[in-house]
Amino acid sequence: MSPPEWPAGLGPVVCVVGARPNFMKMAPILRAFATNVPVIPALLVHTGQHYDKDMSDKLFADLRLPHPDINLEVGSGSHAIQTAEVMRRFEPVIDAQRPSCVLVVGDVNSTLACSLVAIKKGVPVVHVEAGLRSYDRRMPEEINRILTDQIADRLYTTERSAEVNLAREGIDPGRVRFVGNVMIDSLLSNREFARQPAATLAADGFDPELIAGPEGYGVVTLHRPSNVDNPETLAPLLAVLDEIARRLPLVFALHPRTRANIDRFGLGAMIDSSRIALLPPQGYLEMLGLMSGARIVLTDSGGLQEETTALGVPCLTLRENTERPITVDQGTNTMVGRDTEAIRREAAEILAGRGKQGRVPELWDGHAAERIASDLADWLPGWHQSRKTA
Ligand code: UD1
Repeated sequence: MSPPEWPAGLGPVVCVVGARPNFMKMAPILRAFATNVPVIPALLVHTGQHYDKDMSDKLFADLRLPHPDINLEVGSGSHAIQTAEVMRRFEPVIDAQRPSCVLVVGDVNSTLACSLVAIKKGVPVVHVEAGLRSYDRRMPEEINRILTDQIADRLYTTERSAEVNLAREGIDPGRVRFVGNVMIDSLLSNREFARQPAATLAADGFDPELIAGPEGYGVVTLHRPSNVDNPETLAPLLAVLDEIARRLPLVFALHPRTRANIDRFGLGAMIDSSRIALLPPQGYLEMLGLMSGARIVLTDSGGLQEETTALGVPCLTLRENTERPITVDQGTNTMVGRDTEAIRREAAEILAGRGKQGRVPELWDGHAAERIASDLADWLPGWHQSRKTA
């Protein structure tokens, strides 16, 4: 008997990526589609929201993502311009490709823009990493999450709290499946390829001796507008980082937004220290190597909160809230906000060996993408069938 095939007449799944945090989520999904029975035909669309070599191409290579079938090349702009431009350029893709569904991941502007276009064209939307909520509507990502989930026909969640959030917003639990965390699929499958931290420093012209001592090192990333877009907030954060660096060398991977703002506000001297390596945005394998070997990670990223939990590395999150509460309840994450005293205190606890040990959450097991592929292949033909008969 020949293996089952993708139903005749059902178009490809259009898979959308736009910005850096999307790439590590999509890579395992595309691999799972290719090995699923039946194979799920996929078309990869890059909106071009992130376009720098450091922010995009390098990650594609690290994650062994195929070259995008289509690149919309939208680039940067205000939220309105960026979202509108993605929508304008994505619509003809739907018309030409006639996909069976549009699959989006995460919470960036491209996620919402492509979901809106698809649903209005009668194409079902599948959202991976659904239901996360910070309950902070000042975050652009929170708006993207809420609206994408309202639109989506199939919602895949990473943690149980997401199901509760979705139910509260009136979303039918029949549309929701708890599958685990595709970003952790990427982490587990790439651990063996992670780049040695010393090599990463050397490649960017820093002396690897900085992090070679017995005291170890810490890793820092900051890019949220709420932390880096005004000097009154950014300066105290840089001051406390400089203070921590006197005890523990720090590797600070700078997002373009953060680097531009440090220059614009004239704050460069605050972290001009031989104990801080200021690196450009790092590739996936470099970041994985750096995080794996770190004694502490200080960040405002969503992804790093989850990755440090999976790696068992203590993480301080410089935000007032998190949409990923499991990293605090079960993992290694501690929320410290922008409270410099809390940052100082919690960092000292970790350096004294009293950081959170944590445990790996349910279904963060490296197989989330396979569960998505299997569920999608079961569910999607039925969705189309019911539309025909309706
Ligand atoms: C976006 C996502 C955010 C995610 C982050 C990861 C939204 C609303 N935000 O924020 O959720 O955590 O990506 O990085 O979608 N820039 C470059 N090169 C690039 C991309 C951006 O230099 O390749 C600069 C531009 O000056 C741009 C700024 O960075 O204006 C911000 O980029 P943008 O895509 O608007 O948002 P991010 O802050 O990266």
